[in-house]
Amino acid sequence: MKHYLQFADFTADEYQYLFARAAIIKGKFKSYEKYHPLADRTLAMIFEKASTRTRVSFEAGMYQLGGSVVHLTTGDSQLGRAEPIEDSARVISRMTDLVMIRTFGQDKIARFAEYSRVPVINGLTNEFHPCQILADLFTFIEHRGSRGDAGDALSCLQGKVVAWVGDGNNMANTWLQAADLLGFTVHVSTPGGYEVDEKLAFGDRQPRAGCYKVFSNPMDACRGADLVTTDVWTSMGYEAENEARKKAFADWCVDAEMMAVARSDALFMHCLPAHRGEEVMADVIDGPQSVVWDEAENRMHVQKALMEYLLLGRLA
Ligand code: CP
Ligand code: NVA
Repeated sequence: MKHYLQFADFTADEYQYLFARAAIIKGKFKSYEKYHPLADRTLAMIFEKASTRTRVSFEAGMYQLGGSVVHLTTGDSQLGRAEPIEDSARVISRMTDLVMIRTFGQDKIARFAEYSRVPVINGLTNEFHPCQILADLFTFIEHRGSRGDAGDALSCLQGKVVAWVGDGNNMANTWLQAADLLGFTVHVSTPGGYEVDEKLAFGDRQPRAGCYKVFSNPMDACRGADLVTTDVWTSMGYEAENEARKKAFADWCVDAEMMAVARSDALFMHCLPAHRGEEVMADVIDGPQSVVWDEAENRMHVQKALMEYLLLGRLA
């Protein structure tokens, strides 16, 4: 049994498989082909933070695969009344086949997984957001891959430069893990005090040399990039820091000038929800280089491939 708690939980070979399956599963959806490999299976979704995309993509995706979904939040379950996470894990995993959790600390999801009988998926923690990066990479491959075969997926990422402009948050940490594993480079630019934490992304392991570079000026991070990406200045759970962050992040707004120093065919991505005029200007997110709506839709297709893989393993 496998869990998907962070991007580094899977190998490059597993990602190659997942990207290929996501393309096949997306094709079935687009042609209205019924595909019910998870009939009679149930996904439990636990949300301790708000969500639009994660909820809709997992819920719609599971129904499309023939399964069903149970939706729990802190407020409407015993999770909000201090039932130990270990007990919740034992109980929920006796009645369902798969669990997706969006919560605060990574330690909480790790503890849940330790006591779960079924695979657990990270739907966002303070530290990581692996499902989002899975969708982002699939979207990049769709737009920039050339050969269209399974091997194309990974080769299209190798040697590329992704510019991360903004907070050293859950998304940034996950980009670092992906770059280390899949052979591209992340140019990270954050305000002072909001840097990425290498220990968090890589633990005691030495990352691949050159998998990320730090730039104090976001313009320098964007120079020559194949993909420019950012995220909200204040992530969920950090709302008390909102005013301080607004001041600190004022220069970390992706605008037309930053896009102009990236490659001319550079894509723009944002995991959403976005704040136009804060971390990104409207003419960038609503402009021709932006692929944010494909990125959002692809959450569903890649997560269907992920759920299929966790429950059924590799299909021939
Ligand atoms: N990108 C993302 O995870 O969006 P939601 O918070 O709406 O789920
Ligand atoms: N970094 C953001 C992502 C939201 C999808 C947050 O954690 O709130």
